[in-house]
Amino acid sequence: MENILITDRLDLFATSIPCGNMRGLSINAQRYVLVHSKNDRWYLVKEECPHSGAKLQAGAVNDQHELVCPMHAYAFSLHDGREARGRCADLWVVKLWVSGNELWWKD
Ligand code: FES
Repeated sequence: MENILITDRLDLFATSIPCGNMRGLSINAQRYVLVHSKNDRWYLVKEECPHSGAKLQAGAVNDQHELVCPMHAYAFSLHDGREARGRCADLWVVKLWVSGNELWWKD
C-alpha cells in the first residue's frame, strides 16, 4: 500500500474535529471514520461496526480510548480494534502519523 496523505491542514482538522470526536471520510472510494482520540491521537477505522454494521461515525470515544458503537454500545480499542469483552470480531483500525501539519496513513 502506498502512503496516503489525509490532510496537509491538520490545524483545520483539529479545529473541526476536536479531541474525542470523529468524522466520516472517503479514501479511494472506501468509507472510513477519522477519529481524534481524547489523548490527541488520530485513527482511521472502517465505517461499519464489525458486530452488525452500524455506522460508527455516530458513536462516541470514551476515556479508555475506545470507540463505542451507537447501536449496541460495544466498545472497540483504538489501539488494536478488540472489542472490550470479545463479543465480536475486531474493528479494523490504523493509527495515523502526524508530520508537522500533515496527517498520513502510512503502511
Ligand atoms: S452494531 Fe455495533 S455493537 Fe452492534
